[in-house]
Amino acid sequence: MTGRLFLRLILAVLSILVVAVLAVDVLASKVAERTYIDSLTRDLTARGKLLEAVLGGKFKSGSDESWHAMAKALGGRLTLIAKDGTVIRDSEADAAKMENHGHRPEILEALAGRAGSALRRSPTLGIPFLYVAMPVNAGALRLAVPVAEVRTGADAIRGQLLAAVGIAFIPAMILAALIARYVSSRLGAIIEYAGKLADGQFEARLKKTGTDELGILERKLNDTGEKLQHTVEQLQKEHVELEKLERVRKDFVINVSHELRTPLASIQGYTETLLDGAVYDNAINLKFLSIIRQNAERLGRLTSDLLTLSRIELKTQKFQFASYYVHKLIHDSVDAMRPIADKKGIMLRVEPPDAATEVFCDAEAVHQILSNLLDNAIKYTPADGTIVIGGRPAEGAQDYVEIFVKDTGIGIPEEELPRLFERFYRVDKARSRELGGTGLGLAIVKHLAKAMGGEVRVSSKLQQGSTFSFRLPVHDLGLSEDSSLQGQLTVS
Ligand SMILES: Nc1ncnc2c1ncn2[C@@H]1O[C@H](COP(=O)(O)OP(=O)(O)OP(=O)(O)O)[C@@H](O)[C@H]1O
Ligand SMILES: [Mg+2]
Repeated sequence: MTGRLFLRLILAVLSILVVAVLAVDVLASKVAERTYIDSLTRDLTARGKLLEAVLGGKFKSGSDESWHAMAKALGGRLTLIAKDGTVIRDSEADAAKMENHGHRPEILEALAGRAGSALRRSPTLGIPFLYVAMPVNAGALRLAVPVAEVRTGADAIRGQLLAAVGIAFIPAMILAALIARYVSSRLGAIIEYAGKLADGQFEARLKKTGTDELGILERKLNDTGEKLQHTVEQLQKEHVELEKLERVRKDFVINVSHELRTPLASIQGYTETLLDGAVYDNAINLKFLSIIRQNAERLGRLTSDLLTLSRIELKTQKFQFASYYVHKLIHDSVDAMRPIADKKGIMLRVEPPDAATEVFCDAEAVHQILSNLLDNAIKYTPADGTIVIGGRPAEGAQDYVEIFVKDTGIGIPEEELPRLFERFYRVDKARSRELGGTGLGLAIVKHLAKAMGGEVRVSSKLQQGSTFSFRLPVHDLGLSEDSSLQGQLTVS
């Protein structure tokens, strides 16, 4: 590709040089001929003058042989013309037979007292001649040399001129070849880079060179590559995110159908058994009815939890933000759960922060979070266990209060912790279901805490216990107007 470009550039330069040489040749031919004629004219004039001086103006005297010998010595044809134009003597032809020369341009000039010259075919000899005439006493003395001789002389000058031009063109050709190679190699790199971009190799870059037009093109192409790379990376990220969301959505649909199907199937089965006659069997009818009620309650919990989650995600959940005392929030939740803990023989201890500590939140949402965490702590802590619920200034975050629920329960395996807050995720599915759990409690906790500017954390040790905590801001963070935060609560 670049080889062809290089060849074309070189051919273009060569053509320009050839045209230049031809132009020089045409001009040089004319200049050489003119120069040669001028110098010959001067030369012939000088020879004529010498002859006149030697002969003392006595041109007419002397034999034809001596006239002929003189012409030969002068290197041309020698003619003497009278003032009226009649030819007196000629070294090549019989003067008597020659026509009047008075009208010949060189003779006219000479008879007017100046040296004259003319280039034309001789009517007497029939070949082209250069005539040079000069004034003498008798009239005009004319010397003529054949044009072939003029041509040879002019060609010698022309040859020298062309040789000089040719030598001058050698560095020009070398320079042109170097420039052509430089330009074609840079263009080659640009073409190769464009090919890479077309193939999707957006991380490739061109080496930046110079500030000329090619340099500008290189920079523009690099910018294009950078933008394409950025866009593709962005699209890839979005694609991965979308795939993740799609997976989560599918899992959610499967989970919801499964969770709804189990209690529904149970209700259907026991109802049919009762209708088939079991309703009259006093030993089992009450047991079956209580199972039906349990499953109906479970369905109720499931739908209400799902509704809560979807309201937060769809941003239709309205929060009533205000300042509340932390100890009050904690006590409200503990009071509601204490009977359940007492029933199971679990000690519930409160460690509130100082009485003046306030947080800016939605009291109902905090109640929902604490109820879920306490419910879990009671569910997954055996009898004689202890649950501590308290508040303290958040570590490393001024203006935040951390509320925690710590139990001495069964604990959670470390590898389960990262997925614990996903919807329907349960460490021990059978056990959770047995305890009436839906697996949505912690997902709701996470979303509610996030919506209030906090974040849930968990630390746990198997058979030793777990601690769940979340942070709440002390001041108004402007979350009541900020809907974007809730807009992020879509995954898990
Ligand atoms: N304090 C805890 N100790 C041990 N395991 C816990 C504790 N809290 C939660 N878990 C584990 O995390 C899982 C998810 O809890 P989550 O509250 O989301 O669901 P659930 O309690 O099973 O059902 P529900 O929706 O009724 O709360 C539970 O099934 C349980 O395995
Ligand atoms: Mg729970």
